[in-house]
Amino acid sequence: MSNYLGRDGELAEIGIDDVDVSPLEISADGDGRSADLAMARRTSLRDLERPPVAMRLGIFGTGYAGLITSVCLAQLGHTVTAMDTDAGIVARLSQGIATIHEPGLPELLRANLEAGRLRFTTQAEDAIAGSDIIFVCVGTPPRSDGRADLCQVEEVARTIAHQLDGYKLIVEKSTVPARTARWITWTIRRLAGPQHEFDVASNPEFLREGSAVRDFMHPDRIVIGADSGRARSLLLDLYKPRFDCPIVVTSVTTAEFIKQTANAFLAAKISFINVMADLCDALGVDVRTVAQSIGMDPRIGADFLNAGLGFGGACLPKDLSALITVAEENGVDIGMLKEVQRINTARADRLLAKIERALWIVRHKVVAVLGVAFKANTDDIRGAPSLTVVPWLHDAGANLRIYDPAAMPRLQALYPPDDRLVYAESAMDAARDANALVILTDWDEFRCLDLDRLRSVMRSPIIIDGRNLFTPTQLEAAGFEYYSLGRGDVTPRSDQQRGTA
Ligand code: UDX
Repeated sequence: MSNYLGRDGELAEIGIDDVDVSPLEISADGDGRSADLAMARRTSLRDLERPPVAMRLGIFGTGYAGLITSVCLAQLGHTVTAMDTDAGIVARLSQGIATIHEPGLPELLRANLEAGRLRFTTQAEDAIAGSDIIFVCVGTPPRSDGRADLCQVEEVARTIAHQLDGYKLIVEKSTVPARTARWITWTIRRLAGPQHEFDVASNPEFLREGSAVRDFMHPDRIVIGADSGRARSLLLDLYKPRFDCPIVVTSVTTAEFIKQTANAFLAAKISFINVMADLCDALGVDVRTVAQSIGMDPRIGADFLNAGLGFGGACLPKDLSALITVAEENGVDIGMLKEVQRINTARADRLLAKIERALWIVRHKVVAVLGVAFKANTDDIRGAPSLTVVPWLHDAGANLRIYDPAAMPRLQALYPPDDRLVYAESAMDAARDANALVILTDWDEFRCLDLDRLRSVMRSPIIIDGRNLFTPTQLEAAGFEYYSLGRGDVTPRSDQQRGTA
């Protein structure tokens, strides 16, 4: 028995059998046409009686996707060897020290190391020898031309090719452009020669940072892209007896494209509501009310309609760029997604304009910045608005007091403290004597701030909220000037209109 993160985020005691539940499998044809929901079928009784198979798994890469995948697959009872070229990361993980901030991760990491189901190594052969399945979870960062940099993927393919010791299933987990599996196959085939048996499959992850463990343990769907029966049944054996969710079985290229399409759609949804937010500002309408109302329509859906500073992180911006270049290479007009990208890039400028609207002259003003992570519950600052807003404020001559519950060390590595940049101990500490407070991340801790106390420690009670954490009426009642993105501003002028100035 060991701990895992339950559906509601609480730690629960489970054994492997506890996650052995009836799955729903959706089959799609091998030509890569989309899965026909009408073809969904319940798993047969015989499948359900089949005991879960514990497999030996090799994982390449212990970044976000690799580490969560390693720990969660070990939690499901598989024996996992995770390889990374960074000896420091391997040493820390081997001691049970989580290298990323992710709820539930430290507990699962320690439990599975202790159970002997999980180990970390710098040696590729440890992850390859004897493994039934090898997952490729290495980074695919953006290149300067927007395409995904697949150098690390190729390197893994070459390494595997030189060490094949019997049939291997090689599975892409990292987000890669459609048809990357073909390149992996050709690379291995060329180097390993015709005598070795292997397949390359795609099994994209849909994990969100901040809830990645829960997302892995309770997936909405599992996508398996496999072009051979052997690869398909290995991946079905890996997941099917353990998850109660639809399993989409399709071709490798379709699976790769499903992942790219999912992230592009999420990005489009966010940019759509952000454009509406700007219109709401102009019309004096609250974008949250609009978003909640349209989200009640199941055709639209309530999620991903939070207006604000837009999407950041390591995935959405990168995957959108990569998809745009794939479309351009194939002569497909992708103008719509370019607009999604342009709208998103302009979000930080919109906030900076609000800061100037609130402060007029920024120079010599004390500005508290709350939140540097790209979103709550993570210490990740990749693609975060703080990377635009903090240097802009600093260059404009502001005295900055910055606070984030988890991500400050990462920003500090880029922008060390100086006489105009201080890293604070708490949100209240950051706000002390501030002329304005700027919110960049949607941490719950900021939502729960004691507004009376906050007003009393600030030099002037001005909040510029890039995440729409508060309502204008709430902050007006608490005596603040309040500038948000899509909810109308509470300005000194509106005070005059109320006769209170
Ligand atoms: C995303 C995908 O959701 C996940 O399926 C994929 O595997 C990896 O990329 P992640 O980057 O962790 O996950 O964050 P996500 O929760 O998707 O948020 C992305 C960005 O959009 C964040 O900057 C977030 O603040 C922003 N966002 C999200 C909004 O601005 N509004 C919303 O309504 C939702």
